This record gives sequence, C-alpha cells and structure tokens, in this order.
Amino acid sequence: MGARILVAYATRNGSTAEIARVIGKELADAGFSVDITEIKNITTLAGYAAIVIGGPLYMGSVDGTVGKFVGKNNGQLQNLPVAAFVVGLAPKNPDPKAAEQAMAALKRSLEPVMPVTSALFAGKLDPATLNFVMRKFLEMAKIPAGDFRDWDLIAAWARDLPAKMGLSPAPKS
Ligand SMILES: Cc1cc2nc3c(=O)[nH]c(=O)nc-3n(C[C@H](O)[C@H](O)[C@H](O)COP(=O)(O)O)c2cc1C
Repeated sequence: MGARILVAYATRNGSTAEIARVIGKELADAGFSVDITEIKNITTLAGYAAIVIGGPLYMGSVDGTVGKFVGKNNGQLQNLPVAAFVVGLAPKNPDPKAAEQAMAALKRSLEPVMPVTSALFAGKLDPATLNFVMRKFLEMAKIPAGDFRDWDLIAAWARDLPAKMGLSPAPKS
C-alpha cells in the first residue's frame, strides 16, 4: 500500500461528503491507503502523509467546522501537504466575482495553513429542504437549485493530487 492520505470533509446536506468519497476513491485507485472522514469524527492526524480538506459554503463562509479543525491541528497541518476544496453554488452565479469570493472564503477558513492546491466545485441544492426565508435569500444571492456536481472534473482534480502533494504511490502488485 502507498502512503496514507486523509480526506477530511465537512457537510450539512451530504453533497460534499459524496465529493469527498469520489476524491478518496481516485486516490485509493492510484494505490494510496485512504481514509475518508467527516471532520467532526477525526481524532488524530498521526500516520498520514497528506490531507485533503473540503467543506461547503454557507452564507459566504466555509462551514465553521473546517476553521475549527485547522485551528486545533495547525501545528501538524503545517508539516503536511494539504490540498483543499470548497463546494458551493458560486460557480453557477453569473457574476464571476462569486467564484473569487468562494476561493477567498476557503483561504480564510484554512489560515494560516497554505494548501499546495485548492479548487472550487459546484455543489447541489435541493429547494425542498429550504424554508421560505432561505429560498428568498438564495434567490437574492442568485444561487440556483439543482445538482451541478461535475464528477469528471472532481475525479481529474483528485488524480492530479499525488504529484502536487509530492507523493508517489506504491507500485501495483
Ligand atoms: C442556506 C444556504 C446558504 C448557502 N450559501 C451559499 C453561499 O454563500 N455561496 C455558495 O456558493 N453556495 C451557497 N450555498 C450552496 C451550498 O454550498 C451547496 O448546496 C453545497 O453543495 C452544500 O454542501 P453540503 O450538501 O455538503 O452541505 C448555500 C446553500 C444553502 C442551503
């Protein structure tokens, strides 16, 4: 087995969890030993050669469990290659500034950790899960409903991670 990689994610409605699983599967297929764990269930970073951190955007910020996790594990994270992704509907916003703001929110939630690479992926929004006030907010923020996850893009990003994180997989037996 290759080096151990942790895919750590936050999620409120499950769509980021599914993205984390696809990323983890690509890394496992490349010969790495992968754990895919929701951030709130992570107890230790010991033994990992690299970590992928992802979380969804809510009201302009990455879910707060990401920032808390980074704060608590800052020392160890500074010594590991970190790759990061943020999930939101910003890529579907006609204003290109929305994507910039999403990437800035990701950077803020990781500070002071600097990822070797970071990405913004379009997520999924089911209006049936929202109340009237939330639907109005999303309308005003030009956040559309639907499942916009681009699985090919996500898998391709994952396949590029080992090289970016300086990891070489174990030769396939
Ligand atoms: C109340 C609410 C607020 C949201 N705010 C944002 C936002 O500010 N920016 C954005 O790009 N997406 C926003 N989204 C879209 C979510 O990031 C998207 O649905 C994501 O896939 C959710 O991930 P999860 O299913 O893992 O919780 C919002 C969604 C909801 C329901």
